[in-house]
Amino acid sequence: MTVKEALSYDDVLLIPQYSDIKSRREVDIGNSFRGRYATVLFVLPIIASPMDTISETNMGVAMWQHGGLAVIHRYNTIDHQATLVHEVVVGENANAAAAIGASGDYLDRATALYDAGARILCVDVAHGHHILMKEALHELRSIFGQAIHIMAGNVATLEGYNDLVDWGADSVRCNIGGGSICSTRIQTGHGVPGLQTILDCAKARRKVPIIADGGIRSAGDIVKALAAGADFVMLGSVLAGTDETPGGVINTRNGKFKSYRGMASNDAQREWRGKTSSVEGIATTVPCKGPVGNVLEELARGIRSGLSYSGARSIKELQKKARFIRQTGSGQLESSTHILKQ
Ligand code: XMP
Repeated sequence: MTVKEALSYDDVLLIPQYSDIKSRREVDIGNSFRGRYATVLFVLPIIASPMDTISETNMGVAMWQHGGLAVIHRYNTIDHQATLVHEVVVGENANAAAAIGASGDYLDRATALYDAGARILCVDVAHGHHILMKEALHELRSIFGQAIHIMAGNVATLEGYNDLVDWGADSVRCNIGGGSICSTRIQTGHGVPGLQTILDCAKARRKVPIIADGGIRSAGDIVKALAAGADFVMLGSVLAGTDETPGGVINTRNGKFKSYRGMASNDAQREWRGKTSSVEGIATTVPCKGPVGNVLEELARGIRSGLSYSGARSIKELQKKARFIRQTGSGQLESSTHILKQ
């Protein structure tokens, strides 16, 4: 058996290149969903994760106001999720996105979300390269036709990406087990390092957007994901702890915190389905970060700067021009802040 080598974000850097960009304002970091459903334009290539500590009404509205998108999570009753979608759409006349599963009452949920105004539905499954996904995409297309954009995932391979596209997905979430709160790889031994998944899926050279999901910690990681072929990134932990996330503030002697948890964590599973099956995530707390708009603006500045280092004025241009280099362990140390403590 040959064992393939796989790279993740810290294994690589982008080589700085000649640039004629005089101001970062010249750099456009927007992208779009095109295809069956009407074209949707985004100013920011950032999508908030469908998790119960990340995306409800406030995140949906804020992400839309800042030019990105949030996917309202599905770990609630159909009525409650439909109300959250309705609040996003009515509040802001926004394009609301909402998650569904691929079994059980998912078609009832999809219909209720559509009726509430969602036109982007995300089939949100841990192992998306699966017959249930194939059947769900078929059913959704036969019910909704071209009236919705279907995001689907997650997959870890080129074959998974290609199959989901062939089965009817309009965008695909790529990466399994790489998220900050994921323990899938520990629990199951399965997964592919996040950047490698993007490099592999991008080989398809198809128009269906690749969403790099999980394991992204900084603007630099976002730039690497986009350069590797992603069209969007999906963020959990980077947005966790912001004012717009659901849940109260936890006051401690060490400061203010908010909860952030994997949807397959013990805590989350007990709460949303009253029992646990395979535990593939953890629950934790993160420091409060203030308004999500500040986090997004800082990320946008970093991404624009990142594109200009490759001499690129757009994500497409970055993908054409980008030159990755592999770094050693010493390179990784040098690349992180490393001032000697006296
Ligand atoms: P980050 O790194 O942005 O990752 O915090 C968020 C992504 O992690 C995925 N997710 C999970 N994966 N077990 C997993 O293996 C879980 O319990 C879990 N919960 C979320 C999901 O793709 C999300 O966008």
